[in-house]
Amino acid sequence: MCGIIGCAGRGDSTLDTLLHGLSKLEYRGYDSAGVALSDDDLTVRRKAGKLDALETSLGADPLQNGSGSVSDNPVGIGHTRWSTHGPPTDGNAHPHRDCTGRVAVIHNGIIENYQELRDELAASGHEFESDTDTEVVPHLIETALDSGMAPEEAVRDSIDRLEGAYAICVVIAGVDQVFAARNDSPLVLGVSDDAYFFASDVPAFREFTDKVIYLDDGEFAVINQNGYRVTDSNGAVVEKTVNTIEWDPEETGKSGYDHYMLKEIHEQPRALRQCLQGRVDELAGEVILEELGDVNPDAVQFVACGTSYHAALYGAQLFRSIGIPAQAYIASEYATSVPPIDDDLVIGVTQSGETADTLSALREARRRGAKTMAVTNVVGSTAARECDEALYIRAGPEIGVAATKTFASQLVTLALLSLWIDGEEDNRDVIAGFRDLASNVQAILDDTNARKIAEEYHDSDAYFFIGRGLHHPVALEGALKFKEISYEHAEGFPAGELKHGPLALVTDNTPVFAVVTGEGEQARKTIGNVKEVEARDAPVIAVTDGQSDVERYADHVLEIPESTPRTAAVLANVQLQLVSYYAAAQLGRPIDKPRNLAKSVTVE
Ligand code: M6R
Repeated sequence: MCGIIGCAGRGDSTLDTLLHGLSKLEYRGYDSAGVALSDDDLTVRRKAGKLDALETSLGADPLQNGSGSVSDNPVGIGHTRWSTHGPPTDGNAHPHRDCTGRVAVIHNGIIENYQELRDELAASGHEFESDTDTEVVPHLIETALDSGMAPEEAVRDSIDRLEGAYAICVVIAGVDQVFAARNDSPLVLGVSDDAYFFASDVPAFREFTDKVIYLDDGEFAVINQNGYRVTDSNGAVVEKTVNTIEWDPEETGKSGYDHYMLKEIHEQPRALRQCLQGRVDELAGEVILEELGDVNPDAVQFVACGTSYHAALYGAQLFRSIGIPAQAYIASEYATSVPPIDDDLVIGVTQSGETADTLSALREARRRGAKTMAVTNVVGSTAARECDEALYIRAGPEIGVAATKTFASQLVTLALLSLWIDGEEDNRDVIAGFRDLASNVQAILDDTNARKIAEEYHDSDAYFFIGRGLHHPVALEGALKFKEISYEHAEGFPAGELKHGPLALVTDNTPVFAVVTGEGEQARKTIGNVKEVEARDAPVIAVTDGQSDVERYADHVLEIPESTPRTAAVLANVQLQLVSYYAAAQLGRPIDKPRNLAKSVTVE
C-alpha cells in the first residue's frame, strides 16, 4: 500500500531524508514514487517503477524550481504509490498538483466521492492530468485558496469535503509548513529536537528520532521546522502523548542477508524468546499476560486476513480444545454476515494492526456491543488503539512482504492467550513445552535440507500442502508463502480433504508436502492420505518429528525436533518457510516485494 513521508527542519538534507524514508517504506509494496520540495516555490518529480527510477531521474536532472535552485531549508513530502485508480505511470504517481502548480498532495487510501468532486471541479474549469482519486485534493485546496482562505484553513476545508479513507500530506509554495490529516489510514508524527516528520510507518524516520505520536482518525496536524500542532476535527488543540520506540534503526536493515525474508526467518528464535519473556512461569504452571484486563469470554470470534487468518484458525482450535467455542472468520467476509455476538470476545489478529478489512470487522463487532482484542505486532497501531484490549506478539519490525517471524509469534501468543484464559493448573506440561521452542527453531535453521528440496522441485506443475488439526493452518500457510513469493501454483488442504476433489490434480509432477508429527490418530490418518498421493506417483516431502513411520512413504524428509502439538506447528512452518524462500530464490523472484502485493493492506 502507499507509503507517505513528510518532513520539516531537515535543511539541505530534506530530499535525502525523503528518499531514505521512502526506501524504508518500500516494504509496503508500490509501483511508482515521487517527491516534492517546497520553499518559495514548489518542485515535484514522479516516476513509475521502483525508487531507483526516481533516484536516477533526480541524479541526472536535479530538482529545480521556478527560481532556479531549491533553497537550503525547504519542507518536503514523498510517496510510494500502490495503484488503485489508474495504472502505475509517471502521471499517476504522487505528489499531485493543482492547476497553478503551487499545491502538492500525497495520499494513501481511497477517496470514495472523488468522481463527484472531480465533475464539480472540472465544471468550474479545473484541468486534471491523472486517473487518480487523489488529484481532486490539490484542486479543492486551490479553489479554497482562491476564495481567500489562509493555507491551513484551505487545507482543512478541502479535507472536510472528502469521504473515504485517507492519510494525506500537503505542501504549498511560500508556506513553510507540512499539513496532514488522517481517516482510516495509518499516519504517525515523528518528533526530534530540530526536525518533524509525518509517515505511514515509523521506520521511515526511525533513523532520525525514536519519538512518535500516533495520530487518530479525524485529527489534523501541522509541522514546521520549529514544532508541531495537532487539532481535532473542530480545530481544538489536542495534547498528544509522545511515545518512545523501543527497537533500533538497525532492526530495519538486512544485516548481511540477501533478503529481509531470510533475515526474518532467522530472527525467529529471538522473536520467540521476546514473545515468551516474562509471560510463562514454568514452576507455577502459569501464563502471565500483564497487559490484559478482565477477559473471560463465553465464546471467541477471530477476524483476520492472509497469514494472520491462518494463525487465527490455529488459535480457534486451541480455544475449542479448552472448551471455549471459537471460530475464525476471514475479516473481509465478516462484515457482510456478522454472526450473533452475545458475550463473545472478538479478536483481531493482525501483524500490522492497520489492515483495513480487519479493522472494519473489529469496528462492526464493536458496533454490535462486543468486547474486542487486537493481537498485533505494532505498538500504537490502529487496531491496538481501537480495541478494548491489545496483546502484543513482540516479533520486532517485519519488513519482508511475506509474513514469517510474525506468524510464529502469533501462534505462540495465541497459545499463551488460550492457556491464560483457561487458567488450569494442569497446564504445566504444556507450558514447559515452550521452553525449548526457540532452540528447536535454531536447530532447524542450522541443519535444514530445505534448499536441496526446493532446488530439486522448483520447476514442478503445482505444489500441495496437507496437514490435520493444528497442522491444517500450517498447510494453508505453507501454500500461501510458496505461491506469494515463487509465483507457482500452490494450495493447502486439510489432509483428509484431498480425496474429495483436489486429488484429481495430483500427478508425478506435483510435490505434496505433508506435515505429520506425533504418532497418534491424526498422524496415522495423515499417513493414509500420504499413501493416496504416493499411489499417484506424486513426490512426497514429509515434514515430521520422526515419531511416526511417514518416512517410509516419503521421498524426502524435512525434520523437526520432537516437541508438543502446539509448538510442532511453529517448527513445521519454519521448514516450509525455508522451502518457499529457496524455491523463489531459485526462480529469481523479487522475494521481499512480490508483484502486486503490499505489506500493509490499508484498503478494503
Ligand atoms: O498485517 P496483517 O497481519 O493484518 O496482514 C494481513 C495479511 O495481509 C498478511 O498476513 C499477508 O497475508 C501476509 N503478508 C502474507 O505473507
